[in-house]
Amino acid sequence: MKVLVTGGTGYIGSHTVLCLLEAGHQVAVVDNLINSSAESLRRVQELTGQDISFHHVDLLDEAALTGVFATEEVDAVIHFAGLKAVGESVQKPLQYYHNNVSGTISLLRVMDAFDVRTIVFSSSATVYGEKNPVPYIEKMDIGANNPYGRTKEQVEDILSDIGAADDRWHVALLRYFNPVGAHESGRIGEDPLGIPNNLVPFIAQVAVGRRDKLMVFGGDYDTPDGTALRDYIHVMDLSEGHVAAVDYVAATAGVHRWNLGSGIGSSVFDVLHAFERAVGHPLPYEVAPRRAGDLPGFWADPSAALADLSWSTTKTLDQMCEDHWRWQKNNPNGYAAS
Ligand code: NAD
Ligand code: UD1
Repeated sequence: MKVLVTGGTGYIGSHTVLCLLEAGHQVAVVDNLINSSAESLRRVQELTGQDISFHHVDLLDEAALTGVFATEEVDAVIHFAGLKAVGESVQKPLQYYHNNVSGTISLLRVMDAFDVRTIVFSSSATVYGEKNPVPYIEKMDIGANNPYGRTKEQVEDILSDIGAADDRWHVALLRYFNPVGAHESGRIGEDPLGIPNNLVPFIAQVAVGRRDKLMVFGGDYDTPDGTALRDYIHVMDLSEGHVAAVDYVAATAGVHRWNLGSGIGSSVFDVLHAFERAVGHPLPYEVAPRRAGDLPGFWADPSAALADLSWSTTKTLDQMCEDHWRWQKNNPNGYAAS
């Protein structure tokens, strides 16, 4: 299959491009490089020995996107492109709705015009909101509590409505839990701009000397060690989940929803200590107040993805931290020096 990957130079996208190529698919990438570097694709080409056709295009530019579909014979789309910082989405909701929702509508219009109706969409565990009990199951009612999460929910609604109206659409809605880690080569990985919001990139920058210490947001949760629990998933497991999902939906019409997580809740201290084992020494931290909007703990029920896709996670928290550390140590400034 020829798979068009939007957001394919980004963190999860670049790893998924690699897995798609290794699975024998052809790949074209669309990205506006607002949060990434094309160097990631150069390295994927180096790792796989295969060519990737790259289009520096914004999804909101429907004319340019039409040009991409006119030149590439696309069979399916994996749609990662979007803005993803929760805090920023609260400050700039219009930018988030425009980019994530309007950008997706633009993509869907062009896909429809070219008779391409197979799409795998990057949703998020954040759509489960604050009210659901854990573990999260796909059939639960959703209701995100921030603008970023609501963009994911709205795109899920749009894709569900399109799928209900026209049975030629083949849709996968993938709800990711907390992706971390990097390809085991240490050549590609997560390269956040500015101060990282997420736990593992922050710890990695402490370990490499770019930040003084980790602030542990909340030590008084009702959890075994007082810190919050999350379902961390290795980015390579997550990427393999996309290959399984695109293969499945290419053959199966309708709208499908899958959690991609491990089913295991790990605490902030579990992650910190796993990272310390990878680095080989303790890392400085301080327990700070809870972060506004954070939940005490959530993790996936991943059984639907196992049943339908024969997919489950294979990598441990220690492997996630070892691989993340290899990437960070070998590329202390990410792709910047390349
Ligand atoms: P990322 O920022 O590394 O990748 C997103 C890519 O999309 C970037 O390369 C960016 O330049 C591109 N992009 C953004 N807007 C665009 C537009 N209008 N046109 C073209 N390209 C555009 O992020 P990621 O971590 O790889 O996340 C990929 C997807 O998965 C996102 O949709 C994100 O919301 C979702 N997701 C991520 C996480 C996570 O923790 N990383 C968790 C759940 C869901
Ligand atoms: C965050 C987003 C969520 C998004 C997810 C993607 C918020 C409120 N939520 O979730 O919408 O889908 O990223 O991965 O931003 N922590 C610290 N110190 C830090 C950073 C984090 O203690 O410097 C703690 C957090 O309080 C949390 C855990 O580490 O308990 C994980 O945090 P993070 O990596 O930001 O992910 P989420 O909060 O799960």
